[in-house]
Amino acid sequence: MAGTRITGTGSYLPEKVLTNEDLEGLVDTSDEWITARTGIKQRRIAAPDEATVDLAETAARRALDAAERSPGEIDLIVVATTTPDRVFPSTACLLQGRLGVVGAPAFDVQAVCTGFIYALATAHSFLRTGLARRALVVGAEVLSRILNWEDRSTCVLFGDGSGAVVLEADDTPEHGLLSTHLHADGSQDSLLTVPTGIATGWESGTPEGTIHMRGNEVFRVAVNTLGQVVEETLAANGLEQGEVDWLVPHQANIRIIQATAKKLDLAMDRVVVTVDRHGNTSAASVPLALDEGVRDNRIRPGELVLLEAFGGGFTWGSALLRW
Ligand code: UT7
Repeated sequence: MAGTRITGTGSYLPEKVLTNEDLEGLVDTSDEWITARTGIKQRRIAAPDEATVDLAETAARRALDAAERSPGEIDLIVVATTTPDRVFPSTACLLQGRLGVVGAPAFDVQAVCTGFIYALATAHSFLRTGLARRALVVGAEVLSRILNWEDRSTCVLFGDGSGAVVLEADDTPEHGLLSTHLHADGSQDSLLTVPTGIATGWESGTPEGTIHMRGNEVFRVAVNTLGQVVEETLAANGLEQGEVDWLVPHQANIRIIQATAKKLDLAMDRVVVTVDRHGNTSAASVPLALDEGVRDNRIRPGELVLLEAFGGGFTWGSALLRW
């Protein structure tokens, strides 16, 4: 079976910055509380006329440029999103239309904050089995549209953004995706959910159409589960703690990130942290952080990079790659 390798990364953040101080004017909160409990200082908010596909397109074009590929060379598009623009068509099909290409399979993956890891693992499997040669894998979200701006326990946590990679079949042994690990537990859906949908007659703009989270309980599950999945990843690759060069985690909370870094025996200066500036951008957070670490040359060729995420479902997963 063929190997796969990320040949380009890209990302996009909407222009509008919403700071913790701005939120102090909306709900009963403080910069001090948000910073201490989450590490978040600010997040981006999409403009009223910006949709998920707009964010996805910019990140995708930047990743294509970085990979020196044209849209016509892509034969698979997978978009991870929890905030698709429509019930259907999928955001991946909308993106394909924007890119002006037809024919290749395009579909969305819904695994909430783990969505990008799921999408990457899916594209990796397509490429390894010869079903495609060059995939565009995108995570894009406008979470600001499914937040209750009167609920201080959730509205301070999330932000909008997008990230993308080009993943290509590649047999260069010294680079590439080494393993992916995906999991889910559908038995605890009530801890983190948007409780309405088609089955219940979803109405956007109502409190029921927004994110509900029992944060403290989710926090405990996230720390334990991410600890397990990084151990699983190390074991699957015959690695010891301390042998990974970079952790590129989902950015929900700096305290969760620190706990996972500790599990890996990794100093925080080997972790790509964006939560302070982006907040939790769900499926976009891992590719946004990866793009930042690649573009500022922190992540160097030959280094071992561990991506991980945990989110609603629950879902969780990881991917290990040699850059
Ligand atoms: O990405 C998907 C997965 N999501 C996550 O991984 C998120 C996991 N959870 C978390 O990150 C944390 O649990 C939170 C950041 C959501 C909350 O932090 P916490 O330390 O677990 O706080 P808490 O929920 O236990 O709340 C502590 C107190 C409560 O007040 P009382 O009951 O102690 O008086 C809350 O009402 O903090 C209060 N509180 C706030 N205070 C000021 C909750 N939200 C706020 C707020 N500002 N925004």
